Amino acid sequence: MTRGKFILIEGLDRAGKTTQVNRLYERLSPNSESMKFPERSTQIGGLINEYLTNKSFQMPDQTIHLLFSSNRWERQEYIEKTLVTDKKHIVMDRYVYSGIAYSLAKEVDGMDFDWCFGCDKGLIRPDMTVFLVNSKSNDNREGFGKERYEQKCFQEKVHEKFDITFQKLATKDNTSPVQIIDVTDKSITEVEELIWKVVEPVVGAKSASNQLLRF
Ligand code: TMP
Repeated sequence: MTRGKFILIEGLDRAGKTTQVNRLYERLSPNSESMKFPERSTQIGGLINEYLTNKSFQMPDQTIHLLFSSNRWERQEYIEKTLVTDKKHIVMDRYVYSGIAYSLAKEVDGMDFDWCFGCDKGLIRPDMTVFLVNSKSNDNREGFGKERYEQKCFQEKVHEKFDITFQKLATKDNTSPVQIIDVTDKSITEVEELIWKVVEPVVGAKSASNQLLRF
């Protein structure tokens, strides 16, 4: 087998991403790893965690954006090793699209799409992204509101910015497609099957080489 495939699951807060990442990871096991961003266990991740969980911990919007991106950069070597050397698939919970969409939603002067994307340019790109959309609000999910960005009107703005980000980062040859899956009123198993339907052809396809895609 050539390299493993990089599958990313994106969505708003409490959209059920983590459950689905675990389900997909188990389905691909033992030939898979699951990862998430922010990766809170590193020093940079610790600062991000403090920012998210302690609303009185202040930091400029630019700084936290760059920290989220740095957090992705510090795990690139590991991602490359997992995909290319270990030939394992990666199932990822959040990545570049979250980084851009959440920062754009803050609508800070000067932090436009190009600024937000600049620091992520060159990161390893997923082979497929699945975006979970719930047309009903997620604000009744257990735990919603605990972290900084979990506010209904902010989440609506983030959704809009995700759409813009997907459009801007689409590849002409569709080498790194984004599949939108509506999870409204669906059970965990139903969503799992919908995800598998789009992911199975990607993980089943042989890569022509070990070459990774890049943003
Ligand atoms: P989590 O709930 O998936 O751990 O994500 C924590 C929060 O961080 C969530 O509200 C989304 C936000 N986030 C960003 O703002 N920028 C990023 O680059 C990432 C990965 C997450």
